[in-house]
Amino acid sequence: MEQLKLEALKQIEETKDLQSLESIRIAFLSKKGSITELMKQLKDMNPDERKTFGESVNVLKQTIEEALTLKKTQLENDALLETFKNEKVDIHLDEISLPKGYRHPLIQVIRDVEDFFIGKGFSIAEGPELETDHFNFEMMNLAKGHPARAMQDSFYVDPERLLRTHTSPVQARSMLEANGSDLAIICPGKVYRRDDDDPTHSHQFMQIEGLYVSDDLNFSHLKGILLDMAKHIFGPDRKIRLRPSYFPFTEPSVEVDVSFMKADGTPIWIEVLGAGMVHPNVLTMANYDASVKRGFAFGIGVERIAILKYFIDDIRQFYINDKRFLDQFKGVI
Ligand code: PHE
Repeated sequence: MEQLKLEALKQIEETKDLQSLESIRIAFLSKKGSITELMKQLKDMNPDERKTFGESVNVLKQTIEEALTLKKTQLENDALLETFKNEKVDIHLDEISLPKGYRHPLIQVIRDVEDFFIGKGFSIAEGPELETDHFNFEMMNLAKGHPARAMQDSFYVDPERLLRTHTSPVQARSMLEANGSDLAIICPGKVYRRDDDDPTHSHQFMQIEGLYVSDDLNFSHLKGILLDMAKHIFGPDRKIRLRPSYFPFTEPSVEVDVSFMKADGTPIWIEVLGAGMVHPNVLTMANYDASVKRGFAFGIGVERIAILKYFIDDIRQFYINDKRFLDQFKGVI
């Protein structure tokens, strides 16, 4: 019986298809199979023998049946997987190849500066490009007839409305909205000045305005954040230089230069932004108590940063949309 069992299990184990498995079943379990033959011996035994022998044959029969069932399931699963493999449907659609867009170099600079200031807790503000004289000038401490208005030759639409000459009016708009509470914003956007276009001048350009209003702010906070920003944009070994300047809306005011190495190795300073402590008149007009609140503000020239960062020789390149120029910035950010 033991030999029969080993023989049956071995055959089952080695079977590779359902047909031969069925032959094995017939050979052992059918009416003429070896197990049935064993059963036939029962009738010649005495009752005791019959009991133990019968039980053993039953166990053997069960063992073989189980092995057969197990193997059958396994072979059926294999066959199913094979069918799946052969009947696999190709749902793949041929690629529709469209040229991928990428960011304009000025947008790349803006995103980079935004990243820096968002990390410092600033939020992003917006304002209209068609601005009122009131916000563009008066709220920025440039009353009508103020001589410093001449610094920013403007495109007027009518006597009260113009294309904004700087992003500074967004300072006033944001402060009024904040209604006396602390404020930290930057505002990137287009600005316009009447200018003759040449390699370094464009009648349209971009600025990023920054404004921080709070208690206990002083000039070193401004200096610190601007130095950090220069390092973020240009690399850790950059330095900044502050030169006294004049803006009606800040006091004191500075122009900020960033250190730069010319191709021949000569170090130079290049101006990239104007900044200062917010003038008390500007705070007062925007409903802040100027005896308590302080602010600092700055206006970054986006093209200047891009020109320095990417070594661009003509500011007009940013606006004429020559694909050969723009393609160079594919995948930079
Ligand atoms: N608005 C100034 C300009 O366009 C820049 C500036 C902004 C200066 C904020 C000081 C503070 O030249």
